[in-house]
Amino acid sequence: MKETVGRGRWASKAGFVLAAAGSAVGLGNLWKFPYMAGENGGAVFVLVYLLILVLIGMTVMLAELTVGRHTQLDALGAYKKLSAKWAWVGGMGVLCAFLIMAFYTVVGGWAIKYFIGSFASAAANIDFVGFITAPVEPIIYTLIFCLLTWVIVFYGIGGGIEKASKIMMPLLFIFIIIIAIRSCTLPGAGAGLDYYLNPDLSKINGGVILAAMGQVFFSLSLGMGCMITYGSYLDRNSSLTQSAWMIPALDTGVAFLAGLAIFPAVFAFGMQPDAGPGLMFGILPQVFAQMPAGTFFAAIFFLLVIFAALTSAISLLEVVTAYFVDEKAIKRSGASIIGILGIFILAVPCSLSMGSLAGVHIIPEIAAMNIPAMGFFDAFDFLTSKVMLPLGGLLLCIFVGWVWGTDNAINEITDGGFSSFSLAGIWSVLVKFVAPIAIFLVFLSGFGVI
Ligand code: TRP
Repeated sequence: MKETVGRGRWASKAGFVLAAAGSAVGLGNLWKFPYMAGENGGAVFVLVYLLILVLIGMTVMLAELTVGRHTQLDALGAYKKLSAKWAWVGGMGVLCAFLIMAFYTVVGGWAIKYFIGSFASAAANIDFVGFITAPVEPIIYTLIFCLLTWVIVFYGIGGGIEKASKIMMPLLFIFIIIIAIRSCTLPGAGAGLDYYLNPDLSKINGGVILAAMGQVFFSLSLGMGCMITYGSYLDRNSSLTQSAWMIPALDTGVAFLAGLAIFPAVFAFGMQPDAGPGLMFGILPQVFAQMPAGTFFAAIFFLLVIFAALTSAISLLEVVTAYFVDEKAIKRSGASIIGILGIFILAVPCSLSMGSLAGVHIIPEIAAMNIPAMGFFDAFDFLTSKVMLPLGGLLLCIFVGWVWGTDNAINEITDGGFSSFSLAGIWSVLVKFVAPIAIFLVFLSGFGVI
């Protein structure tokens, strides 16, 4: 990642953990987790999320990192090396990276708008709906976000990003804590805490469980070979098991805090928790307005959001780039340009689907399967989070559990028995049986089959 020639290596172990955590922590935590929770019953979503995180998320995380470190290849190459028949699963991951980036860069653009907007006047004065439904302005911001992502991947300046991460990530953490404290101390915040932390179990249904599972995969960057690619840059003396719980723990901490920053304020201001994708952008500027030096605070916060989004976006573009470099023998420079161009072309209809293309549905309503009609943005989000990522995770588990084999995987994890892995037995059962069956059942209930 860090070099323009050769495949590169992480500068240090901390460098890898930071980069992998940087991939995981992004808009998925700050923007998506709170609004998904708000649309799916609040605390009950959080509870199901945590359950799936431990059972499936950590299991798949370890499996992906292991395949990556073992093969030292990109997602598609990794599958191909271990079993040629499975290469298409890696290919599906590359496709998935394009689709995620198509809407991710749009939201990244929104964050840039809010960052700049907080200098001009106050972010609270931005008319969110007016902005995102406009035909031109959001696309310009999307383009800026695309260019920033591309510059980092093109120049292979991951080293600089690794160093910057060491400052920005802890800063983001501290900022969210401060915002959460402000939010929780607003008059009337109690109702929000209740909504966010006190689960109403009667609200559980297949839709909530599928949404939570999709969010676990999205937030941990799992199910499409991103962690295979990152694991491939690891060398042998790095602890896979430690990464497999530390990254999810950090990621979940940030997502949880984001919810704690948003829900109390939602209720304190008498707003709706199920406002959807506009939730963070609508609420947080209001919270900043209640803080001393709020404008300054807002600017720094949105800068940190942009940074978190960028470290995730580069990991997605990296999947695409590594594919073209390793499989099509295209130079890194050309590969990253092809990647970002394709992404931007898909991002344009995503942005327009908020306004001018609002009536164009690329997925029609399928009432029997709980699928509403969807435009580009929602369709790409739905197809990736709720279908392709969990499916990719399911296939990866079957692949590692039954094709490559858990014995081979455990051999890689323990460096041939050199280091210990006390949960090896449990992990084998999780990979071979629990995770694949659970994912399959969640699909069935989410799509109304059971
Ligand atoms: N996890 C990132 C976030 O939460 C987004 C992301 C980066 C991602 N790489 C990924 C999602 C790979 C799915 C797959 O913002």
